[in-house]
Amino acid sequence: MEQQPVNVMEYEAIARTRMEASAYDYYAGAAGDERTLAENRRGFDRLLLRPRVLVDVSRVDTATTLLGESLALPILLAPTAFNRLAHPDGECAVVRAAGRAGTLLVASTIASCSVEEIAAAATGPLWFQLYVYKDRELTKALVARAEAAGCRALVLTVDTPRLGRRERDVRNGFVLPPHAAIRNFADVGRATEAGWTSGSSFFDYVFRLFDASLGWEAIDWLQSITRLPVLLKGILTPEDARLAADAGVAGIVVSNHGARQLDGVAATIDALPAIVGAVDGRLPVLLDGGIRRGTDVLKALALGARAVLIGRPYLWALAADGEAGVSRALALLRDELELAMALAGRPTIASIDASLVERGPFWL
Ligand code: FNR
Ligand code: LAC
Repeated sequence: MEQQPVNVMEYEAIARTRMEASAYDYYAGAAGDERTLAENRRGFDRLLLRPRVLVDVSRVDTATTLLGESLALPILLAPTAFNRLAHPDGECAVVRAAGRAGTLLVASTIASCSVEEIAAAATGPLWFQLYVYKDRELTKALVARAEAAGCRALVLTVDTPRLGRRERDVRNGFVLPPHAAIRNFADVGRATEAGWTSGSSFFDYVFRLFDASLGWEAIDWLQSITRLPVLLKGILTPEDARLAADAGVAGIVVSNHGARQLDGVAATIDALPAIVGAVDGRLPVLLDGGIRRGTDVLKALALGARAVLIGRPYLWALAADGEAGVSRALALLRDELELAMALAGRPTIASIDASLVERGPFWL
């Protein structure tokens, strides 16, 4: 690449030149007026950092552990669909970069590479994000495949009973091109049920095939068919966080799906504190949505997140420069986090606490 980006946000403009317009819009877009998309970033801007001085920061360590995984940094790669829209290697390039950076990918159910292909390419641990289809046998078989492929946790996405309405996709008449098709069902033999009927929209696919009747009893069902730890992704209220802890799940992700589902919900960083208070240490709380800077990671950890996940930043890097781009994006965020920890007087992840942040003036 010519001029290398100096922060992860600069990958987006490069990706835009590399991607087909409707594919770029599918990645960039969000639901409704995209108000929550903007809020996910503004929530971080409203938080100010409170650095302490004369602390020995000659050694700064970004390493942490999460559900038995040793991570070089508290940043995971969120599940994102159809990565072959960005690059021919798709999720296989992403998972290689994740492991080499000492972190992990949560591979999507609707990836452009099968869970077996992603696991074979993995250079570190792999988690699997699950959508529950109306066809429970199909779903059960997919869970068994994820386990057999060596996935070490299941992340059940609970905020997508229907797909949010992304007006960019409506305007573009977005339809998935064959090269980025959902690989997990290509050889299932019932591809027509779980595959993508040509010409239909993704919104219709989800409406037809995802199980919108899912209730809390499904958590018991899922835990009965797998020995893997189960996390719930898409929790935005203390009420549901408590129900998740009562259901015995291994963790939750405070997420609004990158603002792609219900426009008008809170920024995840604003929803985080009440949720952390509600679960009161009963399970690890992760956060995604709008993480673009090392200081954003610092603020999320200060407010009680055990780790964060990034979505679009690695997609832009993938489109811009494949596996090397994803590797560089992770290195940029790690270096930013390490510098921010040094300048804030917090040399270890364990030394990051709520005293590090304060709410800025209301107008921020
Ligand atoms: C997503 N996300 C998502 N989540 C999920 O559980 N399963 C999925 O298949 C997808 N697919 C997907 C595709 C694209 C293009 C995007 C942008 C997002 C949501 C994702 O896991 C995560 O919650 C957000 O992307 C986090 O916000 P940022 O980092 O993109 O701002
Ligand atoms: C999306 C689905 C795939 O956000 O989660 O597009």
